[in-house]
Amino acid sequence: MSSEDKASEIIKRRWNRTAWYYDYLMAFMDRVGVRKGRRLLWSRVESSHVLEIGVGTGNNFPYYPPDAEMTAIDFSEGMLKRAKNRASRHKVKVDLRQMDVQNMKFADNTFNTVASTLVFCSVPDPVRGIKEVARVCKPGGKVILLENDFNSVPIISWLAKLANPLAVRMIGADFTRHPMDNVASSGLAVERVTSLRRGLWKLIEARKV
Ligand SMILES: C[S@@+](CC[C@H](N)C(=O)[O-])C[C@H]1O[C@@H](n2cnc3c(N)ncnc32)[C@H](O)[C@@H]1O
Repeated sequence: MSSEDKASEIIKRRWNRTAWYYDYLMAFMDRVGVRKGRRLLWSRVESSHVLEIGVGTGNNFPYYPPDAEMTAIDFSEGMLKRAKNRASRHKVKVDLRQMDVQNMKFADNTFNTVASTLVFCSVPDPVRGIKEVARVCKPGGKVILLENDFNSVPIISWLAKLANPLAVRMIGADFTRHPMDNVASSGLAVERVTSLRRGLWKLIEARKV
């Protein structure tokens, strides 16, 4: 196993371990700004064939565009199992697959839009992951990411740095990342950035040129 695969295995295990209480954490996060970001993100999705990266337990299901053909991936079987249960309980039509965003099995140029919420803080190599997103997106297609950007408010940045070793160890999320830099390094053309809650969350809309 390569060192990259080992890093992914470790983070995946942390998400498997987190799955049972994830929705309690998210209930709080949704209340402090994330829900607004989800609504905005899904209202800006374009066209019919859409891929969601890092579906988690399926918190975005209520916002999926009704006419879209949805596919969603996650590398954690624990999170995916909950997403499958939620999809069947709420009759959500989505093709759920276990995959690592850094190495997806989809052909080049498959999807019109690729979307994700709060994912690239956990992906071991976020630039590699976003480059994969660009690969599977059709030319002219849209990539739309809601990401934490805790560096944008000094006190939160300080707290995030303090809590980060625990966050990485518990849930595999690194709160000190710079999402805008990672998207810029992936070769996608950023078209619009919407700041939520003083920029703590960024909705990044980009295009594959
Ligand atoms: C913070 S949760 C976000 C879940 C969901 N998008 C939401 O907004 O509630 C991060 C999710 O990304 C998934 N994830 C992290 N790294 C991944 C990777 N390399 N490939 C696929 N999924 C990944 C985790 O398993 C987890 O379900």
